[in-house]
Amino acid sequence: MAKSVIFFCIVALGFFGIVYAFDPSPLQDFCVADFTSTVRINGLPCKDPATVVADDFFFRGFDAAGNTSNPYGSSVIPMNVARVPGLNTLGLTVARLDFLPSGFIPPHLHPRGSEILTVLEGSIEVGFVTTYPNYKHYSKVLERGDAFVVPVGLVHYQRNVADGNAVVFGIVNSQNAGINVVSNAVFGAKPAICSQFLSNAFQLDKKTVEELQAKFSI
Ligand SMILES: *[C@@H]1O[C@H](CO)[C@@H](O)[C@H](O)[C@H]1NC(C)=O
Repeated sequence: MAKSVIFFCIVALGFFGIVYAFDPSPLQDFCVADFTSTVRINGLPCKDPATVVADDFFFRGFDAAGNTSNPYGSSVIPMNVARVPGLNTLGLTVARLDFLPSGFIPPHLHPRGSEILTVLEGSIEVGFVTTYPNYKHYSKVLERGDAFVVPVGLVHYQRNVADGNAVVFGIVNSQNAGINVVSNAVFGAKPAICSQFLSNAFQLDKKTVEELQAKFSI
């Protein structure tokens, strides 16, 4: 009995340790990313603090909507470490999300970051799904001024449910939260996952699977 409890704990710890990762805490005031360094560490190496300038912490570009002319009718403008080197090691990313009427962001997850979504304009539905065995779907329609939390690692989506455009700000607690779009990971894998296998796994005919693979292998 005790042995199986210990085994379960070890398995559970291993599982959570792999799936739920958080950015480490900084050990200095800042570590502005040095993109020229060839050193490979967890994150990016710091440039000499003597060469750091205010622009290393500055971003301009949240004033206008991004390009929503795509099949999703949505766009994401990220303020991340790639654009703002001063964000390195701080465990933060912000993004402006724009949605056309009926625009959406397809089901996806961030392996390394929880998210807060705040609606500035319009009205969107946000939903996330818990893990096995419950797969419970929590969703909410957010209006202007509302905010919603999406816990790290859970599959979630956003979709415009009003007639006008929507503007949303998303904050994640990682400098590199990662994004895994479910449809692309399954049907767009390169090289492709065996279509007969996906047909069995998803209980769809092989032709439908091949159509999905053609659509999502970009
Ligand atoms: C928006 O994206 C579409 C599709 O990629 C492209 O054809 C179009 O030129 C872009 N528009 C602007 C203003 O960048």
